[in-house]
Amino acid sequence: MILVTGGAGFIGSNFVLAAVAAGGRVVNLDKLTYAGNLRNLDPLAGDPRHLFVQGDICDRGLVRELLAAHRPRAIVHFAAESHVDRSIRGPAEFVQTNVVGTFSLLEEARIFWGALEGRGKAAFRFLHVSTDEVYGSLGPADPAFSETTAYQPNSPYSASKAASDHFVRAYHHTYGLPVLTTNCSNNYGPMQYPEKLIPLVICNAVKGKPLPVYGDGMNVRDWLYVSDHCGAIREVLARGRPGELYNIGGASERTNFHIVNTICALLDEMHPRAKGRHADLITFVKDRPGHDRRYAIDASKIAGELGWRPAETFESGMAKTVRWYLDNEAWVEEIGRRAA
Ligand SMILES: NC(=O)c1ccc[n+]([C@@H]2O[C@H](COP(=O)([O-])OP(=O)(O)OC[C@H]3O[C@@H](n4cnc5c(N)ncnc54)[C@H](O)[C@@H]3O)[C@@H](O)[C@H]2O)c1
Repeated sequence: MILVTGGAGFIGSNFVLAAVAAGGRVVNLDKLTYAGNLRNLDPLAGDPRHLFVQGDICDRGLVRELLAAHRPRAIVHFAAESHVDRSIRGPAEFVQTNVVGTFSLLEEARIFWGALEGRGKAAFRFLHVSTDEVYGSLGPADPAFSETTAYQPNSPYSASKAASDHFVRAYHHTYGLPVLTTNCSNNYGPMQYPEKLIPLVICNAVKGKPLPVYGDGMNVRDWLYVSDHCGAIREVLARGRPGELYNIGGASERTNFHIVNTICALLDEMHPRAKGRHADLITFVKDRPGHDRRYAIDASKIAGELGWRPAETFESGMAKTVRWYLDNEAWVEEIGRRAA
């Protein structure tokens, strides 16, 4: 049994589906913010290996009850406010969930783990899912982020994640809590909320709406297909060394402009427009304030220590993603109705 937080969100739900498919049992604690979606978990309806609990990670009484009742061997912590643009408009929620929420979980995990004995205590893990955005921004010729790159967060989102990473580190150093932290690059794939670049562009393109590209479109991210991220988390959970950070990335640096053009080309094949090409819809818009220019991940530590490598290429992952959104129009429509 593992306790997953944020398991109704994009990456968390992909992780939960894969964990149960692999024979695991999951208690899934999620507040169901705008980003949480129970439809993501439809394939697990009625499955006794999955227990969904709607609640807030800041609710220490609830977390304590869940730990006492289910005695998980690990906590895998995804729950967060995750959208940079929202963090610029309203940072308070990011401090509350990402910092205070992570602190609350750590406190309850420390108490629970402190009372364990023997093999149960030795085997327990707290895996904190973080981001490469904590490292700040790279210039075009800078080496990729490694686990020893200094933290230089630039947005309220990345600052809140950096703060949570520091608390996780401190709970290992001070109390010996067996923590693991993963810092992953930008994910894409099925069930990502359509406010993020890739699903937003797919959904807008299908409706013939403008495809917004920030600034000059030359910001670079290192893209990873979501199931590869989930596989890396499973490896780190199983064999990672407590107290360590593991960077996770797809060695797929691409500009935003390249991403949008790739989606347009895929849609021209899979879902042609009656007239013109999808790229005709590309519109450059005012840049995000403080927009980091480039992220890139050096994933040699997880590759060397744990033998992890992504299974998908950028091209195969993007084709699967576009296909998924085309095949799941009802999922997209429902989110649109809820947001309206
Ligand atoms: N999406 C990416 O590209 C990416 C990359 C690297 C790391 N991460 C990290 O991975 C994690 C998951 O990201 P995502 O893209 O799936 O996010 P998401 O926004 O899709 O999902 C977040 C989930 O957390 C839940 N949640 C929010 N606040 C909560 C609270 N107080 N208590 C309980 N549940 C709460 C939401 O309801 C939602 O289901 C985050 O910690 C994020 O920082 C994301």
